[in-house]
Amino acid sequence: MTARPAASVPAGRRALADRAARWFRECYGREPEGVWFTPGRVNLVGEHTDYNEGFVLPFALGQGVAAAAAQREDGVLALRTRRDPAASAEIPLARLRPGPGGAGADGIPSWARYPAGVAWALLSAGYPVGGVSLAIDSCLADGAGLSSSAALECSVALALTELEGAGGVDGGGIPRSGLAAIARRAENEFVGVPSGIMDQSAALLCLADHALLLDCQSLEFSQVPFAPAAAGVRVLVIDTRAKHELTDGEYGGRQTECHEAARRLGVPSLRWVTDVSELAALDDPVLTRRARHVITDNQRVQEVAALLRSSGGGDAPTLAEVGALLTQSHRSLRDDFEVSWPEADVAVDAAVAAGALGARMTGGGFGGSAIALVPDTSAAQVEAAIQAAHADRGWTEPEFLTAVPSDAAQRMP
Ligand code: GLA
Repeated sequence: MTARPAASVPAGRRALADRAARWFRECYGREPEGVWFTPGRVNLVGEHTDYNEGFVLPFALGQGVAAAAAQREDGVLALRTRRDPAASAEIPLARLRPGPGGAGADGIPSWARYPAGVAWALLSAGYPVGGVSLAIDSCLADGAGLSSSAALECSVALALTELEGAGGVDGGGIPRSGLAAIARRAENEFVGVPSGIMDQSAALLCLADHALLLDCQSLEFSQVPFAPAAAGVRVLVIDTRAKHELTDGEYGGRQTECHEAARRLGVPSLRWVTDVSELAALDDPVLTRRARHVITDNQRVQEVAALLRSSGGGDAPTLAEVGALLTQSHRSLRDDFEVSWPEADVAVDAAVAAGALGARMTGGGFGGSAIALVPDTSAAQVEAAIQAAHADRGWTEPEFLTAVPSDAAQRMP
């Protein structure tokens, strides 16, 4: 199934794209040749399953990252971000190399390693990349676990491939799933973050009013209708304001444990284990818990996808069942995989007690955001309950966002 986004442009995207174009003019004193927008994502269910060759079910947000870009003649990648105007970089393309330990080009600001990594990954894969000036703008909170990094990578990947001609991506030059793999390689090998394929796939393949069911082994995907608003239900995103960082080693540690569990079970990946009874063969309690999470979350992805499909996107009773599965997923991430964090645990409990149909952390964990499936009629009381629970503990006030399942990345018309 193709995933070409619809032609219509939501107002928020338009406004961000216009601001990115203005920022480009301020930085470079000329017009950009184009602006590319890529959304962040929320993962509905299927966490830490992607690098185990399992299943994920993310959807794209309305909010994201915009890259305004124009070619230049000097073979330099010029990078500016409106978030931090002083943190600019000018890197001759010929000098791009992953640094020791995957740190990327020396002396460039950390945010700039993502776009530089994309240029490097495209060149390494044999695609032409010429000099480009890029001006980045974003309406996604950094560190909120909503994949602002993948959104940045994918906007830059689209800009570089489409400016270079050769059909670009939507002109048929590179399939979007291939571009997702290139953006992931930038993150893994150039930036040094060992992430899976979910975020870049969501950024490039999602459709409005759908979640993306992705098989992370075959990379086959399908669109699952997901339109909770029609049933008077919303996905509330709770940015817990505890910053999420994948580079801090815990994420990589979980991968190592999963690979070790698979090795001891004699399978290529945990994808191959479909029944928790098979874990009796593991004598390590930690590895058993890690593997149990992966197996059960893979099952929950299938169950949620089947429920949404059979109800045409989710009626109220079905969304109640989906909500229960989300809460189970959170418990599994909290108790078995041990990647949740106190602010998320408290937000999930408060949300469910105040009338949410279900709630869970979303993304890699150790900080970032949680989501709650909330009937519109309970939204105010759920937000108030989460706010109060955080205030009681002296924590930073959380921020709320209603997540609307949106289209993937696009060149702005
Ligand atoms: C991060 C990674 C993804 C995925 C999730 C956990 O978002 O970038 O590849 O592993 O964590 O599901």
